[in-house]
Amino acid sequence: MTSAVAGSARIIDGSAVAKAIREEVKAETTALVAKGVKPGLAVVLVGEDPASAVYVRSKGKACEEAGMRSDTIRMSAATTQAELLAVVERLNHDPEIHGILVQMPLPKQIDPQAVILAINPAKDVDGFHPVNAGKLFSGDMSGFIPCTPLGVRELLLRHDIDTQGAHAVVVGRSTIVGRPMAALLLLPGKGGDATVTVCHSRTRELASHLKRANIVIAAIGRKEMITGDMLKAGAVVIDVGMNRVDDPSTKSGTRLYGDVHYPSASAVASWITPVPGGVGPMTIAMLLKNTITAAGRTVGAA
Ligand code: GUN
Repeated sequence: MTSAVAGSARIIDGSAVAKAIREEVKAETTALVAKGVKPGLAVVLVGEDPASAVYVRSKGKACEEAGMRSDTIRMSAATTQAELLAVVERLNHDPEIHGILVQMPLPKQIDPQAVILAINPAKDVDGFHPVNAGKLFSGDMSGFIPCTPLGVRELLLRHDIDTQGAHAVVVGRSTIVGRPMAALLLLPGKGGDATVTVCHSRTRELASHLKRANIVIAAIGRKEMITGDMLKAGAVVIDVGMNRVDDPSTKSGTRLYGDVHYPSASAVASWITPVPGGVGPMTIAMLLKNTITAAGRTVGAA
């Protein structure tokens, strides 16, 4: 563990790490293309949620920059569950598509769990299917792991942050971030072997848990909820929060805030991720990596 110097937390530059990973993916794509497999990712967007539309565009662009095939399937907000399931089924059988991602959230007439269950686990690059979730929770790394927690693990590994024996407090119990994050930190070996506490909206005395944490993973979805006074000196702080707030003073009209109050936390922490430019860019980088893995597994098969 890096020693703490108050007021001088080192910044974990997720944008730089994501850029490096995207370069690695590009090289792997070239190698796969030479073997006759062009990795392909299909992203399905149902409805017109503006934040989702931005994410989906970035995913498509990142794929193309890495030399991969990217199909974006846009469906109206009135799409029925049966219509969406039919699209998933077609993609399951499309040999040129190796990864399928259905952007969440879905309109309320569609049950997200039914859609996740319909995706072929071998193409589930989001890692949301119970087969993949089950593999992770049983310590089997042969499945797909959700991109955001996988990105956090990569940031910890690439900064030589020692998780082994450390007390990691994960704040948030979502199936997309909190739960798989806890499972990753519990795996044996480098990047794992942590003592993990999972806190959530019903946790009593959150600050008392945070105060004992060597590593804090904040994934609650509440703007700047974790402040420096709640943290142990020298803690490593990973902020997964993406809280968009209206702000007419910015060009886009919104500003992004994390779950951590950066000015006070960075005065106490040893390492900290900024928002934006921390965990966010890692999610797409890991999605590309999962898609390459899915495509690589088809080489020589069938
Ligand atoms: N919506 C917000 N994050 C994600 C993600 O990682 N995957 C999908 N499919 N939808 C999301």
